[in-house]
Amino acid sequence: MAVVGEHLTLRKTGRNHVGLCPFHGEKTPSFNVSREKGTYYCFGCKRGGDVIDFVMELERVPFAEAVERLAERFGIRLPPASPEARRRKDEHDQLVEVMEAAQAVFVRQVAEDRPRAFLERRGVSLELAAEFGLGYSKGEWRALYDELRRRFPERALVAAGLVVEGEAGRVWDRFRDRVTIPIRLTRGRLVAFGGRALGDETPKYLNSPESSLFSKSQVLFALDRATRAFAQANRAIVVEGYFDCIALHHNGFTETVATLGTALSEHHAKELARRVPRVVVCFDGDAAGRQAAVAAMRTLLGVALEVSVLLLPQGQDPDDVVRHEGAEAFRGRITGALPAAEFLLELMGENREDRRRNLLQTLEIVDSCPDPVRRFSMREALARGAGVPLDQLGWGGTPRVVATQAEVASLPPPGELALLRSLLIDVRVERRGELLAQVPVEAVDHPATRAILDAMLKRAARGETLEISAITSDIDDGGVRRVVAALEHEVPETDEERLTLIILRGLCDKNRKTRLADLSLEIQRAEKQGNKEKLAQLQREKNALIKRPKSTA
Ligand code: UTP
Ligand code: MN
Repeated sequence: MAVVGEHLTLRKTGRNHVGLCPFHGEKTPSFNVSREKGTYYCFGCKRGGDVIDFVMELERVPFAEAVERLAERFGIRLPPASPEARRRKDEHDQLVEVMEAAQAVFVRQVAEDRPRAFLERRGVSLELAAEFGLGYSKGEWRALYDELRRRFPERALVAAGLVVEGEAGRVWDRFRDRVTIPIRLTRGRLVAFGGRALGDETPKYLNSPESSLFSKSQVLFALDRATRAFAQANRAIVVEGYFDCIALHHNGFTETVATLGTALSEHHAKELARRVPRVVVCFDGDAAGRQAAVAAMRTLLGVALEVSVLLLPQGQDPDDVVRHEGAEAFRGRITGALPAAEFLLELMGENREDRRRNLLQTLEIVDSCPDPVRRFSMREALARGAGVPLDQLGWGGTPRVVATQAEVASLPPPGELALLRSLLIDVRVERRGELLAQVPVEAVDHPATRAILDAMLKRAARGETLEISAITSDIDDGGVRRVVAALEHEVPETDEERLTLIILRGLCDKNRKTRLADLSLEIQRAEKQGNKEKLAQLQREKNALIKRPKSTA
């Protein structure tokens, strides 16, 4: 309550407090906080959890870090980690320290004549450069090495990718005479540099090597800054280049991120799907750009994101366009970005013949969307555009990529929710173990319900408390934690009587029916095989099940 209250204004209504949800843009409050249970839940975006989830979600930090921050905030000392974990953390901390030391050196040099002239030519003022932490690496072979070697061992400089080790132990600076661009993770941790040549030298951009700190396919440039803008913008813009991204931020599109000269990966897509519902991909309009846009669209649809595409005039990138046309014109282009199906239709061709020829191949792209409703409407739009009746296409398209958003959004069926609500909240904690033992777990359908019951059974087996806060602390999966948070807000109270009378009986009956059906099949099989012993045993089980009155669990 205290933690949430620092981030939004809450008003009391009955037993709960409500406010405007900090995770999605809204005008009427649907964000609920329960003081008693220490949980929050938003009816709008279905996000919910306990105070740890809140910090994870709002500050975009992993579980361990959220716990650390809360501990710090309330002055609690956490138990020390294992020696192995500690050693790894020390090494990692040293790499981060090396990177920050290099960053300080680079930034100090950015106002020198050569880099300043380069940046000015590109419309980047020293203020803007400072905002993004742009720097400059000197042209000498060992300038950075000599400076940092006084404070760090050589192997740390090599491990951080700042120094290259050649034959016979010779070492030299990786970045020489380049404008440096720091690449940070969402929490601001510095993990890599991009280095832009000042002239026509190759490569044009030199990046830090892949290391224990950094993997290109995992990191999006400026995600740390863009995350702050996502809630307002409700979308992300994806571009290809560092300077495209910087120029768009400078023109007010602070929700922009860039891939680092690689294709948009599934990991990138998931990172975005956790934060926004919609992505605009903005690429060059040449053949390579169109191809990249299609590939990015497929990956983004695969994690259930809504996608639209903005192709710029051939040979121009967002940096050129926004500097030339200004922010307002660019905003118009973004607004006019083509939704996925429309973009694909354009690619399929001008006339129906062309479109028909490309239809099947294009349908395959929208089939990567795991949301059946959206997949259907995109298929329909494509078929209509090609003049083919949709019912001739069949129901293709089993999604290949697992949905993140769709999974999170799906709650267990009402009966299972009532079961969970009762066992986790309404029934007295001393009674929970006994009731839990009566639940026929095999009859439960939803994976989240199963995960929660499993966590409870494990605790019960160890003789530990079945208090809701203890149970949630055993569960790592965000989707499952959300189900727990939803219980209190979306499910009516379910007392012990209702639990035993309706829910357990219903589940047991269901279980019995499924088992009977299975038994019939097994009996048939045993008859065919002539396995008399097995047959007799199966018959006994079947008779016992049939005789048993329905209501005993
Ligand atoms: P582009 O070649 O399209 O360049 O590379 P750009 O971003 O417009 O660069 P400027 O405007 O000429 O400075 C797009 C992105 O691909 C990566 C970089 O992230 C670059 O921003 N890239 C490009 C590399 O990593 N290495 C390269 O040699 C070239
Ligand atoms: Mn450019």
